[in-house]
Amino acid sequence: MIPMVDLKSQFYAIKKDVIRTVTEILESSHYILGEKVSELEKKVSVYIGTKHAIAVASGTDALHLAIDALDIGPGDEVLTTPFTFFATAEAILYTGATPVFVDIDPDTFNMDAGQIKSHITEKTKAILPVHLFGHPANMDEIMKIARKYKLKVIEDCAQSFGAEFNRKKTGSFGDAGCFSFYPSKNLGAYGDGGMITINKASSAEIIKQLRNHGSRGSYRHKRVGFNSRLDELQAGILLVKFKYIDEYNKKRRENASIYTELLSNFVQCPVEKQGSFHVYHQYTIRSKKRDIIQERLKEHGVSSVVYYPVPLHLQEALKFLGYQKGDFPEAEKAAKEVLSLPMYPELNSRDIKKIARIIKTTV
Ligand SMILES: Cc1ncc(COP(=O)(O)O)c(C=O)c1O
Repeated sequence: MIPMVDLKSQFYAIKKDVIRTVTEILESSHYILGEKVSELEKKVSVYIGTKHAIAVASGTDALHLAIDALDIGPGDEVLTTPFTFFATAEAILYTGATPVFVDIDPDTFNMDAGQIKSHITEKTKAILPVHLFGHPANMDEIMKIARKYKLKVIEDCAQSFGAEFNRKKTGSFGDAGCFSFYPSKNLGAYGDGGMITINKASSAEIIKQLRNHGSRGSYRHKRVGFNSRLDELQAGILLVKFKYIDEYNKKRRENASIYTELLSNFVQCPVEKQGSFHVYHQYTIRSKKRDIIQERLKEHGVSSVVYYPVPLHLQEALKFLGYQKGDFPEAEKAAKEVLSLPMYPELNSRDIKKIARIIKTTV
């Protein structure tokens, strides 16, 4: 059996360190927003290159609180991609704002920056690009448009920890970067977790209040907030894994290049656009024979997943937005052709060769 991710092998490799950290935290009897959370926030802000990083309870909350703190809400429109995980649009909707979709670039699966301008209206307040599968969105173009039209930019970095665009980390371009530490992410906790990277001190302060019931902990509440705190155990585990994040991403990139070498004549392999540093949260191929490839892989004990089978504008829950089939042809086509293959740092070349052989003999 070859799984999509193998968190058990990763755990065994760092077990001693994790157990030591967890024991230390349990003995400290300080479990929420303590030293480990502060240390993680400092390390992430230095690594990403922003003045502040604020830990929250999940990637979804990171998006929600960042959008809220940037004063985006009812009546505002936020431009985003229809080809992403549902949480991207959900977080916009939590604030009362409306997601407005922009079709994708069929090569990177990211929002097509060339189509953004035609969707800007008087109500547009922000652009929310997603660095999907670990490939950075075209931040040069997006930031140019944002400056010209005075729009905020919130980056969904849930899948892109460590990815770069022109040697700058994703999460450091816009007004806020939003990360997820969901266990299977490139930097994953052993539970839920998230982080917001941000430069503006006043917005960082608002987020710190929002994550803790609108207060800084003195039972004086400046605003109505949420309970969205990262716990010490997750922060401690993330600090252990953080030491290896560049190595993990390097191994993902090596595995991606083996896949591409073996598969590029048979299916459409992921690209790495000029100036981009892809961290392959997913290795996602495209093929008209996607369903049969998935079936054959399954027969041979190889996992694969369709991220994502239904674009957001066609999701039942978002019917009220009024979109129709055909509105975003590239996203709809991608949904029919994409297949994500097993990808994790510990994946070995023998397994990649096996997967490639199955695919080659199927197409
Ligand atoms: C693109 C994207 N945005 C947002 C999220 C939400 O993150 P979380 O699961 O930590 O809430 C995810 C995670 O699955 C994601 O992949």
